[in-house]
Amino acid sequence: MPKLELSKQLMIRGVSLRQLQVFLAVYQHHSITEAAKGLHLTQPTVSIQLKKLSEQLRTPLYQVHHKKMVFTESAAILANYASEMLRNAELLEMELANLRELKSGTLKIAVVTTAQYFIPHIVGPFLRQHPFVDMQLTVVNRQQILERLNRGLDDIYVVSHLPESPPIHSQEFLENPLYLVAEAHHPLMAHPNLKLNDIANEPFILREPGSGTRLALEKNLRELGVQLNIRMVIESNEAIRECVAAGLGVSILSEHALKLGSDDRLKILPVKELPIVTHWHFVWPQHRNTSIVARAFIDYLGNDYLAPHSQLSASSP
Ligand code: PGA
Repeated sequence: MPKLELSKQLMIRGVSLRQLQVFLAVYQHHSITEAAKGLHLTQPTVSIQLKKLSEQLRTPLYQVHHKKMVFTESAAILANYASEMLRNAELLEMELANLRELKSGTLKIAVVTTAQYFIPHIVGPFLRQHPFVDMQLTVVNRQQILERLNRGLDDIYVVSHLPESPPIHSQEFLENPLYLVAEAHHPLMAHPNLKLNDIANEPFILREPGSGTRLALEKNLRELGVQLNIRMVIESNEAIRECVAAGLGVSILSEHALKLGSDDRLKILPVKELPIVTHWHFVWPQHRNTSIVARAFIDYLGNDYLAPHSQLSASSP
């Protein structure tokens, strides 16, 4: 940094907003007595503040001519900046107060793809309670959520498998059952006592690497020693549903992604080893200052959302 810049900074470092306020009052009234009255201070206090300010800024601020105050050019420049600085200080105070009282702010939530179907219903009442709070919702797969979590890009995350790092707080809140889904008239519908091995030759449609659904499925298949006939890898639950409905294969998807009530082209196949049940978790980083809005949301989860859902288990740090 050039020397001149540094000395400028040092010069005003000790100047307080109160001193600027006192100076401005004197400058506007052209009188120490009047300024002192307006500020409910004594005359000597105001004089001392002015003297100190002039010393700190290393420039005279006024002279007395025929018993009248005559301000220097430095004082005129200072008056301009001082009013701007005081206005900004007021705005800063106002904005911080707004944030504290949730009259502004953005809740940054990042959720895995499959959570997009229910998250709006959980966040909705919170946003209605706080109409000045905005939401930034990011929907990506599990791998991308982990990357965002590591980079600290969001306030709150929703995943089904807890990450091992970084250190986090988490709150479990909802079941995530994974079912085998097929086109409604699939011949296997009539199969008695269906097992995963019975679908080993069926064309299977799988989510992409990095997907939490895929992770849970692969873990279970490994444990059961079952191998599937993977014919397609698709990044989107919607596209998988369409492919299944078109009879291109079967798939295992979260109940939340199936939308069975509104799509009668698909049916769940009753497989002995299914559903695979995991749970959804809200997650937020431990080593990061939780924003005011995020803290309010976490409180809302604990008090308003999770409490009435007493059948759901919640594990708070
Ligand atoms: P996904 O994640 O949407 O990336 O498959 C779901 C999950 O974590 O269970």
